[in-house]
Amino acid sequence: MKTMWSYLKKYWFFALLASAFMVAEVFVDLYQPRMMETIVDRGVLGIGSGGVSDVNLVVSTGIRMIFVVLAGCAFGICSAIFTNITGQNFGNDIRKKCFSNIMHFSFQQTDDFTTGSLVTRITNDVTQVQQLVMQMIRGFVRCMMFFVGGTIALLSLDLSFGMIIACAFPVILIDVIFVVWRTNPLFLLLQNSLDKVNGIMQENVSGARVVKAFVQEKTEQSRFDAANQTLVDTQFNVQMMLSFLRPVMNIVLNIAVVGIIYVGMVQVRQGSAAPGTVMAAITYISQILNGMMMLAMIFQTLSRGLVSGRRLEEVLTAEPALADGKGDTGPGPGSISFKNVSFDYPDNGAKVLHNINLEIRPGETLGVIGATGSGKTSLVNLIPRFYDVTEGAIEVDGINVKDYKLAELREKVTLCLQKSELFATTIRDNISLGKKDATEEEIIRAAKAAQAHDFILQQKDGYDTEVAERGMSLSGGQRQRIAISRALLKEAEILIFDDSTSALDLRTEADLYKALDRDYAGMTRIIIAQRIASVKNADRILVLDGGRISALGSHDELMETSPVYQEIYESQLKLHEGKGGAA
Ligand SMILES: Nc1ncnc2c1ncn2[C@@H]1O[C@H](COP(=O)(O)OP(=O)(O)OP(=O)(O)O)[C@@H](O)[C@H]1O
Ligand SMILES: [Mg+2]
Repeated sequence: MKTMWSYLKKYWFFALLASAFMVAEVFVDLYQPRMMETIVDRGVLGIGSGGVSDVNLVVSTGIRMIFVVLAGCAFGICSAIFTNITGQNFGNDIRKKCFSNIMHFSFQQTDDFTTGSLVTRITNDVTQVQQLVMQMIRGFVRCMMFFVGGTIALLSLDLSFGMIIACAFPVILIDVIFVVWRTNPLFLLLQNSLDKVNGIMQENVSGARVVKAFVQEKTEQSRFDAANQTLVDTQFNVQMMLSFLRPVMNIVLNIAVVGIIYVGMVQVRQGSAAPGTVMAAITYISQILNGMMMLAMIFQTLSRGLVSGRRLEEVLTAEPALADGKGDTGPGPGSISFKNVSFDYPDNGAKVLHNINLEIRPGETLGVIGATGSGKTSLVNLIPRFYDVTEGAIEVDGINVKDYKLAELREKVTLCLQKSELFATTIRDNISLGKKDATEEEIIRAAKAAQAHDFILQQKDGYDTEVAERGMSLSGGQRQRIAISRALLKEAEILIFDDSTSALDLRTEADLYKALDRDYAGMTRIIIAQRIASVKNADRILVLDGGRISALGSHDELMETSPVYQEIYESQLKLHEGKGGAA
């Protein structure tokens, strides 16, 4: 909980003010019965003045009481305001920090936490700890004051009333302990089932098209229902436990009041207490027991808040798996070298890349081809350090990628992902994602080279057309071309296309490469593709086979020397002919 404290410390002053005002408010509440006592005993019954009632005293005490109550209200409002300031700011800070941490998570870390859980943590768990802090500042202070202050006030009326508290106290304590003990383990379960519900929800909303295409609504519904049922059951159990609390408290409270009335009656008869005193005692005992009841609720918030706090700390204290290097690397021409690189995914175990040795010259265009699952994406993901190599090293401009600051490295290397992700904003903003200060000309130049300009102009609002979530309002090829525009605009030294042209027809693709040679010459390019036609004109082509370099050379060289390449070539040629020459 150390981290949580450090976030709360910033607002200690507001928290203190909130508690102080709360104390003041409770003092007023505790003082009120005393004034009531004065009105009844001395004003109405005239005890102490020979049974003559004192109207003036009634009126003046009454007026005083109104002012005291008003002051109490003001204290209460101030306390609520400062509690809010503390709680909201505290929660806001945590939410922001969690978000920024999640942004810096490696792919592996995000996979480990799961998206659903991260969503729950940053929303519901933050609310829980916020609730806890606010309860502690106000509720805890309030009920402790009522308990301690009320007891003192009650005993100051008459010591014999203490007997009644002494009897009621253990019963209530046992009740509270029982409920806290039974509900406590349920809270972790509750948050975990929330994770599941959020995860399934998120998967299904983003994968809605697949679910529909495969008519999986029923299966998904039952998957959701199962997760949701656990959530409902757990919540039900918690509420069931809590429902024991209030009635038991009420019974104890009522018995205690009866006790006070009885003891009071005996004393009034004996002449050792006045009726007003008994009235005040009844108010005090309700305040004391209500305070205890609140304490039980606070324990609930506490145990739930602590569970959430721990879950948030996991996010807050997670070190980014990829640490920054020292930086200060400066620009370079864009050479890449793989030195004996091997790689496996941490949770997979099987080696995906084996002893890769490869030098890519500045300004060179390298085509990469290979069967699906042969490790092409994995190979290029290592260059901007989406993952770290397991063995060996990768150097960009002669410097190990681990020695770069991540941001600097990713400035140098632009990767156009296999699956183009667009955001729900304008086409312009989608393109200028990596270069927010790009001019209109630069954006158009990139879009033209990416063969996107023409279709963008045909959209409703041209470059200002809003794209639907995840780019769903555009065709696959249109999405790819916007993603390519985005990559080109960054004008990085190294440009990587991971199957980024798969949805383009051969003609458009050829135009794109021509435009690249013309407008973006000088960049080192790595082009992953399934079709030989996409890489045929590259300076060299790398053939990956089962995570190993099978061959490396120009198209013509490979046609002569590499059987794997020839095989790919022939199979595509056959397919091509089989389709009657249609591309
Ligand atoms: N995030 C991941 N976690 C674990 N294993 C992975 C992950 N991504 C890929 N793999 C595994 O690594 C191997 C290589 O995958 P990779 O994505 O590099 O292939 P690829 O050549 O790009 O294939 P494709 O042409 O289909 O895109 C596959 O066997 C795959 O199962
Ligand atoms: Mg791939």
